Amino acid sequence: MSRILDLLKAFAGICKTQPLDQSFWKVRGSEITIDLEDIPELQKKDGAVYLKGQTLSVPVLVVRRPDNSYLCVENRCTHMGRKLDPEPGGKTLRCCSVSHSIFDDRGNKLTGPAKGPVKVYPSREIDGKLVIDLT
Ligand code: FES
Repeated sequence: MSRILDLLKAFAGICKTQPLDQSFWKVRGSEITIDLEDIPELQKKDGAVYLKGQTLSVPVLVVRRPDNSYLCVENRCTHMGRKLDPEPGGKTLRCCSVSHSIFDDRGNKLTGPAKGPVKVYPSREIDGKLVIDLT
């Protein structure tokens, strides 16, 4: 039953990762700032959220890696634009579509029909906040 449900979700492009409430993040110029302290998904290793809305021109996936660093990528597969989920271990990302393209933690396509890499954004942690550079 779970396999059928997973297949239906893949057809619909439904990911496991949930959007982050816009009250926890801000866009200023080419930077996003996220208040990390009140976000349980980003307190745990392999946890993730995605950002969409405000003035963002692209959705962004934020993943907390096992080494406690953050991976921030454009949350749009280069095949048909579906969202991405982190895979356990924090080293790869998987597209939520049926075709399941896989990307490494530098955004490079490993498998699947994706047409190229996904963009990875540098980030830094400052005083309990994560700042993502979109340039
Ligand atoms: S949209 Fe990602 S593999 Fe098709």
